[in-house]
Amino acid sequence: MINESFHIPVLTEEVIHYLLLKKNGTYLDATSGFGGHSAAILEQLVGGSLISTDQDPEAISYLKSKFKSQERLSIHQARFSELDKLLCDNDFDGILADIGVSSYQLNTAKRGFSFMKDGPLDMRMNQNIGEDASSWLNNASEKEISNILWKYGEERKAKRIAKAIIEARNNFKIKSTKELAEIILEEVPRRFNDKKHPATKTFQAIRIFINNELEELKLLLDFTSKHLKIGGRACIISFHSLEDRMVKQFFRDHSRRDPRLSKLPNLADDSSFKLVSRAIKPSDHEISINPRSRSAKLRVIERIR
Ligand SMILES: C[S@@+](CC[C@H](N)C(=O)[O-])C[C@H]1O[C@@H](n2cnc3c(N)ncnc32)[C@H](O)[C@@H]1O
Repeated sequence: MINESFHIPVLTEEVIHYLLLKKNGTYLDATSGFGGHSAAILEQLVGGSLISTDQDPEAISYLKSKFKSQERLSIHQARFSELDKLLCDNDFDGILADIGVSSYQLNTAKRGFSFMKDGPLDMRMNQNIGEDASSWLNNASEKEISNILWKYGEERKAKRIAKAIIEARNNFKIKSTKELAEIILEEVPRRFNDKKHPATKTFQAIRIFINNELEELKLLLDFTSKHLKIGGRACIISFHSLEDRMVKQFFRDHSRRDPRLSKLPNLADDSSFKLVSRAIKPSDHEISINPRSRSAKLRVIERIR
């Protein structure tokens, strides 16, 4: 049973302020999760409409029961990489994505995302497709594991942890989050002043890899650049630096003049987008109510031609 208190949406006031310029507009929430942001958007709409998507089947069935009588809303299960096909005929006044995992996914042991809760080592946001983390970890080479931990977790001890995983694997199949966390703890014990658990970066890296998160984000950004109406805005919330760097770079590249033209004098700006604000972070008050929001960053871009 999914409990609504599992997920508090982040930066909601800011999202509404920057996204909802037209109350009768058409909007997309591409990471609807447990519907926190979708509900806030619906509350503001007067005659407009909202499409809510997510790749997680559990989230989708929850959303369908939460919003059963909402006529202005349609709900679809879709990954970012499927949006272009699903919504090929739609353009939007606003597109929102609050990327990463939901608190529900993270806090539910059977989803296998967390080293704090023992569960099957799964980590798929859609458990009906793809390879789970246990299957990958038990078959990948030491080099492959170490590369993933470095690339997606920026884990400086990637080589040591990968070696420890391979050694443990010679004795047993790694099936649970607890087993993986213990292998890491044995290799990299927690010191008294460590703020983070030594398994944090490894779990983040494997999750990003298993869900193809950065490639998916790239396709979402491509989608937003094709499917915003003139005057429409994209609001992207990210939770770690790898994602935020991608969003920042993409927004910057799309909102400046073509560098090949920049030396020509007196030429009007030719970019199709403009940056609306610098990165927006949660207030101290929001962080005190919802500590998970502390690493969130919202970036906003607007289509101008
Ligand atoms: C932080 S939660 C969003 C919570 C939501 N804004 C709310 O108010 O409840 C992120 C959601 O994005 C979804 N997600 C992440 N990557 C995705 C992708 N590539 N395609 C579709 N959904 C994705 C996850 O399944 C998760 O439900």
